[in-house]
This record gives sequence, C-alpha cells and structure tokens, in this order.
Amino acid sequence: MDHSNYVIDPMISAKTIAARVEALAKEITATFRGTDKLIVIGLLRGSFVFIADLVRELDLPVEVDFLETSSYGDSMESSREVRILKDLRGEIEGRDILVVEDIVDTGHTLHHVLNLLKSRGPRRMEVCALLDKPSRREVEVDTTWIGFEIPDKFVVGYGIDYAQRNRNLDHIGIVRFIGDQTDHPDKG
Ligand code: IMP
Ligand code: MG
Repeated sequence: MDHSNYVIDPMISAKTIAARVEALAKEITATFRGTDKLIVIGLLRGSFVFIADLVRELDLPVEVDFLETSSYGDSMESSREVRILKDLRGEIEGRDILVVEDIVDTGHTLHHVLNLLKSRGPRRMEVCALLDKPSRREVEVDTTWIGFEIPDKFVVGYGIDYAQRNRNLDHIGIVRFIGDQTDHPDKG
C-alpha cells in the first residue's frame, strides 16, 4: 500500500488537547489524593505523548511504567487477538495504578490489558483514555476518564500513528485518502 496518498484534516487542536489534559489531571490528582505512590502505566506506543503531558500535570508522587501490546501493523483494522510484546518492569500488587491509553476502539486491547493487570492485584486501578470511538465498541471496557469522544474516523497525531507515521503532529487529525478509493479509511 502506498501510504503517501493521504492528507490530514485537523480535528482537535493542540490548545484544546492541552486544556483537556489539564482538566483530566486535576480530576486524577483529586481521585488519588493521599496515595503513597501512583504508578502511571502507558500503553505503548500511542500513549507516549499523552502520558508525558499528563504526568507533568499530576500533583502526586508518580512512577511511570510501560506495557506494549501487539498493534494493527500497517492495517487500519483491529485484530481481535491481543498479545503482550513488552511487559511492565515493576510490580503493581497492592499499588495504585492509572492505565493510560491513546484510543479505545473495539475495546479488545484495553479489555485484555485490564484483565491482566487486575489479576496482579493492584489496590486501585483507574483508566484514562485520550480518545474514545464508542460506535466501534465490540467489548465492554470500564474507563474512568475519557479525553474526547470521536466519530468512527481514523486519526493520527499527538502520539497516534498511521503505519508509524504522524506521531509527532502536535494536534489530532483525520486521515483522508486522496486518489485510490480502495485505501479509503471509511471503507469498513
Ligand atoms: P482496540 O483494541 O480496537 O480498542 O484498539 C485500540 C488500539 O488501536 C489503540 O490503542 C490504537 O493503537 C489503535 N487505533 C484505534 N483507532 C485508531 C486510529 O484511528 N488511529 C490510529 N490507531 C488507532
Ligand atoms: Mg495502541
């Protein structure tokens, strides 16, 4: 597939994202107030920009850890199978944890990850996802905070990629193909 034949239409500005991150961080700080330590767990790679901004707004003792699951590869369709490619470095038993994800789409990734982490016995587990596409959900996931609900569009930027590209965009935009319609992201 030729990945160069698309443009990115702006969807959520850097300023709007920053304001939402600040508001989320206030709620998270209030929720975990008094904790001896909050372990913020980022799901690689899409959450790396979000987590970087979010932790700097948290007024709590924070540690950061990462988990990587298998991705879509270069395809836009979610595979139902979720594998752990890189596990956490630290223990979470008896700990307060915040799981940070870029997008909840079908829900399979978070469903799998949350079950796994829950089985390790954290004291308290909350979940913050930057984006949510509720119309795409195939399996129920219990998110505590959502940054923005978005329609069923393929998005990039602010850490989120298409075939590993566009993660460094400072805002979130919709991928729109030009030319070959067989590559159109809306084609179901
Ligand atoms: P789920 O398992 O279907 O919920 O997939 C969630 C994962 O798919 C997210 O962590 C993203 O990495 C990826 N994903 C879902 N929608 C998009 C998108 O619009 N752009 C880029 N990646 C996406
Ligand atoms: Mg992801």
